[in-house]
Amino acid sequence: QTGHTTIDYGFVNTAATKSAITYIDGDEGILRYRGYPIEQLAKASSYLEVAWLLIYGELPTADELDAWDHRIRRHTLLHEDLKRFFSALPPTAHPMSVLSSATAALSTYYEHESDPDNPDHVELTTVRLLAKLPVIAAYAHKKSIGQAFLYPDNSLSFVDNFLRLNFGVMSEQYEINPVVSQALERLLILHEDHEQNASTSTVRLVGSTGANQFSSVSAGINALYGPLHGGANEAVLDMLARIRDSGESVQRFVERVKNKEDGVKLMGFGHRVYKNYDPRAKLVKESADAVLAELGVHDPLLDLAKELEEIALNDEYFQQRRLYPNVDFYTGVIYKAMGFPTRMFTVLFAIGRLPGWLAHWREMQYDPQKKIGRPQQLYVGSPERDYPRR
Ligand code: SDX
Repeated sequence: QTGHTTIDYGFVNTAATKSAITYIDGDEGILRYRGYPIEQLAKASSYLEVAWLLIYGELPTADELDAWDHRIRRHTLLHEDLKRFFSALPPTAHPMSVLSSATAALSTYYEHESDPDNPDHVELTTVRLLAKLPVIAAYAHKKSIGQAFLYPDNSLSFVDNFLRLNFGVMSEQYEINPVVSQALERLLILHEDHEQNASTSTVRLVGSTGANQFSSVSAGINALYGPLHGGANEAVLDMLARIRDSGESVQRFVERVKNKEDGVKLMGFGHRVYKNYDPRAKLVKESADAVLAELGVHDPLLDLAKELEEIALNDEYFQQRRLYPNVDFYTGVIYKAMGFPTRMFTVLFAIGRLPGWLAHWREMQYDPQKKIGRPQQLYVGSPERDYPRR
């Protein structure tokens, strides 16, 4: 049989990927980047410091981080021709499609300097992706709202440059809001890696064929786009807005989920690995209250999310299936309060996850036992048979 029936093959040898980058304990709700607990990094580190940690395995010295930060800032400009690439896309293009295609297009400008077997090219391509992906992401946002693209301002930090590219306009001086800046830094750190999730496994698989970091990351962005993966943060906000607009009670919605009516799921709940509370979701929920209060925003969707969580956590349907909020459940409410449109939420996830993708690509690339990826298969189709005589 094939398709949706579950088949008991007994022992299936699924060769697990070995990695030294991130540790997750799904039962205990533990997440560590290179041994450091996510709770400590999220509260005290920075996006680029954690990126260095994931990629190189140790925390950078102050000088190393300064030099890297300076090098990244000097690569934020996009080739002027690449900026015209955006005008070829329809104004309704989803920012994730824009991000993945513009990232693949980046390859065409740097093919002569992105050879995976040349260590200098590997370093330069890593810097170029960290520098240019946020600019592409911001241009995808600007395109979706019909506003002019700004040039990066290299006097600003990584996160502040990103915020200004998204929300600044030519005609005014952009004021950085420190609350938004700090909250976004923390959210990006929480997304930087998560071991062998679907998009990271995609990056490793594509890279294992000898494809460069641009092509591998572009593939990872496409995998992340799916609503069961990174697209869930956008799907959560759509779900909350539908409940609010329908006038349906939260309890009635939960009943529909439990009855699997029209395949409806509680988006932002459940996880392949966490069968307990996702430690990131806890940190995001804390941030949500603080950021909305500091911004003076009261969003009824946050109240709705909390009511939904409360009902689900006390319902045996979810308890039996060990379904808890994951990282996507509360992030959208914060992104919305920051001013990002819903369709940009998964793009923000991609910017967060970029260092993890680059770290895993590199770990695979420099693995002496490296082999081209080829997942195992168990054949369950037709036995041999003859072609009918006609
Ligand atoms: C991310 O891998 C990663 O690390 C990913 C990620 C990362 O950082 O990279 O953490 C980011 O992708 C988080 C997940 C975001 N996705 C969503 O929030 C979408 C909603 N969640 C589900 O689609 C689901 O929970 C998955 C895909 C996340 C996990 O699915 P599993 O572990 O394969 O669970 P399953 O599909 O085998 O379901 C087991 C049972 C089923 O019910 P029964 O058939 O036993 O009756 O639980 C039910 C499912 O129907 N179920 C849900 C549910 N998730 C699972 N029911 C309602 N709502 C849900 N969200």
